[in-house]
Amino acid sequence: MPKIKFLPHKLLLPKGGTFYAKEGETILNVALRNNINIEHACNKSCICTTCHCFIEKGYYSLSPCEEKEEDILDKAWGIQINSRLSCQAKIKNQDIEVKIPMYTINQF
Ligand code: FES
Repeated sequence: MPKIKFLPHKLLLPKGGTFYAKEGETILNVALRNNINIEHACNKSCICTTCHCFIEKGYYSLSPCEEKEEDILDKAWGIQINSRLSCQAKIKNQDIEVKIPMYTINQF
């Protein structure tokens, strides 16, 4: 069973944590199941970018970034080369490491 390591985030998860994921589960669903309240203003509809995250390890082991995600991702705060929307990126069979950005587009 793959694992997601969430790096420490000042407000959401000060000490960080590692959690098991089911294959095919989104990063956001793993976070929410473990009480990490990543913002998801559009309720996972791929239109708000508030669930934006950085994939520090295992980027290419996730489900590919679809065109709709790529289009909306450009609007996320602090976008980087390793950015994904956590409501869209699905875990496959490898462990990954995720950093939650300090801000969302709504906070900024
Ligand atoms: S929850 Fe809105 S884009 Fe992911």
